[in-house]
This record gives sequence, structure tokens and C-alpha cells, in this order.
Amino acid sequence: MMNFLNSEAEMRQNSVYDCVILPLNKIHNRAGNITIIEGMVNVPFDVKRVYYLYDIPGGESRGGHAHKQLMQLIIAASGSFDVLLDDGVNKKIVTLNRPNYGLLVVPGIWRELMEFSSGSICLVLASEVYTEDDYIRDYDEFLIFKNGN
Ligand code: TYD
Repeated sequence: MMNFLNSEAEMRQNSVYDCVILPLNKIHNRAGNITIIEGMVNVPFDVKRVYYLYDIPGGESRGGHAHKQLMQLIIAASGSFDVLLDDGVNKKIVTLNRPNYGLLVVPGIWRELMEFSSGSICLVLASEVYTEDDYIRDYDEFLIFKNGN
């Protein structure tokens, strides 16, 4: 299992290249598929919270924030969408469209979710409980945070 940077100084250094696609298991039989995710087994954190986005109107985007500590695995449980990742220097867009792949988003990364297909479901596994203090919702503040000022 990979180790990820965790202290505040190190999370400032996290880049979009630390946000990787994790292939998940898939057990297939004639009745369909099942994928199992266990904290510290196939995601590099204990899962403290699960939430999902659904009924997203066409053309809407979500996210538009960064987290200071939170680590997440984002999965297209159904349909597809794009995740724009931004570390203040580099940007990358990842398309998620298969339920047996997850995008690991490390702390200190600005993210936006967009281009949701009709009926898509965005499943998120999170390393921490919900804490508004962990959010950076202002992009300029995010850039200051990343630059360590
Ligand atoms: P937010 O994280 O801003 O949504 P998104 O990034 O998908 O656009 O959360 C939307 C609202 O839901 C906001 O009022 C906070 C609330 N919320 C919780 O109360 N608990 C949670 O675990 C999450 C993820 C959101």
C-alpha cells in the first residue's frame, strides 16, 4: 500500500500526480458484478464516511473546493463524469466511467466535478468525518495555502 504525505507542510506539496486511479476488484458472475472496498486494504485510509451525489441536473458542476486533511476515493458508481484536479500549478482532468476504478484524491488538491451523464452516481469514500474547517472554498485562499504564505 502506498504512503501519502500527511503533515501540513507535505500536503501543501501534494500534486495532481499524487491523485491516482486505483483499480478495484470485480467479482463477476452471470447475475452481475460486485466490487468490494475495505479501508486500509484497497484504499490507503480508514473509511469514516460515505456519501453519494445523484440527480445532478445536466450542465451542473460540483466541488469547487480543496481539503486540508481529507483523503477521498471518488467512484462513478453509475454513468460518467469528469474530475478536474488542480494543485495550484498543474491541472488534470480525469474521466470516471467504470464502477471498478476509483480516483484517489489526496489532501491539498482543488477539485471540480463536471460533465455528469444523465442518471450518474458519484460515490465518495472519505477518510474523515465531515468538518467544514477542513474545506478551502475560496480559490485565491487555496493558492495562498499551497504557496505556504
Ligand atoms: P459540498 O461538499 O459543498 O458539496 P459538493 O462539493 O458536492 O458540491 O456539500 C454540500 C452541502 O452538504 C453543504 O451544505 C455541506 C453538506 N455536507 C454535509 O453536511 N456532510 C457531508 O459529509 C458533506 C459531503 C456535505
